[in-house]
Amino acid sequence: MAIIKVQKGTKDILPQDMPVWHFMEDTARKIFSEYGAKEIRTPIFEATELFARGVGDTTDIVNKEMYTFEKSERSLTLRPENTAGVVRAFIENGMHRLSAPVKLWYKGPMFRYERPQAGRQRQFHQVGIEVFGIKQPTADAEVILMAVNYLKALGLNDLTVELNSLGCPECREVFKTKLKEVIKPYLQDLCPDCQARYEKNPLRLLDCKVEECKAVYAKPEIQEVIQSDFICEECAEHFNELKSYLDALGINYSINKLLVRGLDYYNRTVFEIKSNNLGSQNAVCGGGRYDSLVRNLGGEDTPAVGFAMGMERLASLIGNKEEEKTAGFVVSNNTLEAVKLTEEIRKAGISCEFDLTNKKFVKQLEKASKVAKYALILGEDEIAKNQVTVKNLDTSEQVTVTREKVLEVLNS
Ligand code: HAM
Repeated sequence: MAIIKVQKGTKDILPQDMPVWHFMEDTARKIFSEYGAKEIRTPIFEATELFARGVGDTTDIVNKEMYTFEKSERSLTLRPENTAGVVRAFIENGMHRLSAPVKLWYKGPMFRYERPQAGRQRQFHQVGIEVFGIKQPTADAEVILMAVNYLKALGLNDLTVELNSLGCPECREVFKTKLKEVIKPYLQDLCPDCQARYEKNPLRLLDCKVEECKAVYAKPEIQEVIQSDFICEECAEHFNELKSYLDALGINYSINKLLVRGLDYYNRTVFEIKSNNLGSQNAVCGGGRYDSLVRNLGGEDTPAVGFAMGMERLASLIGNKEEEKTAGFVVSNNTLEAVKLTEEIRKAGISCEFDLTNKKFVKQLEKASKVAKYALILGEDEIAKNQVTVKNLDTSEQVTVTREKVLEVLNS
């Protein structure tokens, strides 16, 4: 019979991969709680409208990449990202009444119907942070600091922080008009996606990857508009303050005026953290400020800022981590005594296994040396004297001790 394979763009995370995943998750819990963040878990599917209104209906994510289905005449979507879901939960659970800032972190699977390639999957995992209630750039700085320190704790250093300010809706509107004006004469040279973006979301023109479009945007008169300081005085002050915090904290960054992000909810600060050791999908982290999203989704006016990181990309940078071996493996031809000893050890909170099939003694020892740190040998002699021979499988040293002492040896 034909075997059924894993779906394109999805992957099994196998037991041998788990040490890296546990490392990423445990480190997230540790680092984010140092900053006072609490974990939140929101559902994997939400009303489609949440993403259409939240992420924005001019984005690729909403237009092309959502897994949408109907149940009981409701349109539902597998979450393509988690900011909209966390905002929904924030509003629904009245979290604006908590004293600001409210810092929430999450991890879990996201779904985007994208063309799979190295570093890009259809089901992938994100770990992220959302901080609510603070409009000052101190929150932006803290969010970036959390991202950088999390990455450092994972042992990842060869990374670049890119920063930009998209201004507020008012100053951005002026910029969009100027940009459209200067690009208009070249409209017919642009790819079909850019021609659509020109009307719907001109800022997104700037991060098109098509060579012909890039050549157009490199023209001096267009570059002049792109590189101009279009943001208003208040937005500039916010951005300058953020930069001075980052300088004071010793966080290196570079300004990238082409950084516009693929989601519609941002205003002012946007940032990405890129690795120099990944291929074309080199962003490990993306985030920014989204002061209007809570209100746009029906909540009280609440400023917010956050980020998310792709965990598969982090995992590929971290590399392999050794699987933790079982502490003990009981080797005995007396299955009943073996199971009793195994259970005693497990009850003390130490991992232990025994041979379920009662193989020959030598085979059991071979198995033990593959999976465990210690072989706990229970021969007839040992059983008669209520003893156990504990063999360190790394050094081959062995000692025979009373049963009561076994735990001491395993704990040493
Ligand atoms: P995003 O830039 O769409 O932002 O995704 C964040 C990160 O998720 C990316 O930098 C990348 O590492 C990873 N990622 C995205 N798509 C894929 C994929 N198809 N395969 C593998 N990894 C992927 C957001 O999702 C925003 N919600 C971030 C945010 C939080 N902004 C404010 N708060």
